Amino acid sequence: MNKDNNIILEVRNLDVKFFQDIGTVNAVNGATFQLPEGKSIGIVGESGCGKTITAYSTIGLLPPGGKITNGEILYTQRDGSVVDTAQLRKDGKEIRSIRGRDISMIFQEPMTALSPVHTIYNQLSEMIRLHLDLNEKEIRERSIELLQMVGIPAADKRIDEYVFQLSGGMRQRVMIAMALASYPRILIADEPTTALDVTIQAQVLKVIKDLQEKLSLSLILITHDLGVVAHMVDYVYVMYLGRMVESGPVDQLLVEPLHPYTKGLLRSIPRVRGERQDRIDSIPGTVPDAYFLPQGCPFHSRCNELVGEICKKEAPERVCVGSEHYVSCHIYSGSVNEGGAIDG
Ligand SMILES: Nc1ncnc2c1ncn2[C@@H]1O[C@H](COP(=O)(O)OP(=O)(O)OP(=O)(O)O)[C@@H](O)[C@H]1O
Ligand SMILES: [Mg+2]
Repeated sequence: MNKDNNIILEVRNLDVKFFQDIGTVNAVNGATFQLPEGKSIGIVGESGCGKTITAYSTIGLLPPGGKITNGEILYTQRDGSVVDTAQLRKDGKEIRSIRGRDISMIFQEPMTALSPVHTIYNQLSEMIRLHLDLNEKEIRERSIELLQMVGIPAADKRIDEYVFQLSGGMRQRVMIAMALASYPRILIADEPTTALDVTIQAQVLKVIKDLQEKLSLSLILITHDLGVVAHMVDYVYVMYLGRMVESGPVDQLLVEPLHPYTKGLLRSIPRVRGERQDRIDSIPGTVPDAYFLPQGCPFHSRCNELVGEICKKEAPERVCVGSEHYVSCHIYSGSVNEGGAIDG
């Protein structure tokens, strides 16, 4: 990442495991990323690759049984000091002052995150009360302002409605409003539009993008769809089996993907050209079981560009293959390609 950028959040070599009676789930295995202040990054990968658990780790919200066993999560606070949130006590004062206030999250499941028995105002005002020192009149004004910000029409009336009275897109806008209630610095949006149809998805993504720019938020957008990140983020991290296998500036990564997994993800995005829809290719096989991590490159069992036995035996190092573009694949490692030449 460019040295001119101030890094607000940096995750280094993060491992997260779930210790269960039947075995250990290796949910995150060496995840690494940097979020520059005021910029946006995308974390992209198939279901189960560790996106949500990585996000939960940053705010000390791991589900029961989950433990960070290695790595650092370095958050640069408002006063410039750096705290490793991986070291903070799970429900201690320190992490509670960061979670929801400085780092806010739009959760993957809107209907489980919103209460069906409380009005939108009840829920928004509770969030504001928790984080800001305002009187009742100010809380109501801030609540209406938040709903207006996310584009809910007649916000002063709709604020007293219940969530079931809203469409899916409107509910997701309420989720965004709740996440922004405390003036956060970092917004994590976990699959914010997966449950929505395509046109509403585009509208909700636009709300997030516009607010990110207007409020100078640092944004982490989590999605399984490489197509979604195109107009949304500056930088993309492609995640597979709990680690980043490729990362780079969005334009470079979408135009010139290097890792066979990234290429596969790109081929699986449906594209319609004129009257005709291109054939969609899926990546063969499935993500290996997180109980047993494979030896060698984590992607080798599904890769169609194997370079030899090394892929099954040694995990590839992360190598820099151009300006801010990194890839972990033996095709590009010096041991295979002498001098590290990249021929595509
Ligand atoms: N509460 C839990 N207990 C045990 N294992 C879990 C738990 N939550 C997640 N995992 C495991 O951790 C791994 C990573 O899960 P995670 O939810 O982070 O994936 P994801 O990339 O967010 O997937 P999706 O796209 O489906 O949301 C998976 O193997 C998952 O089965
Ligand atoms: Mg998830």
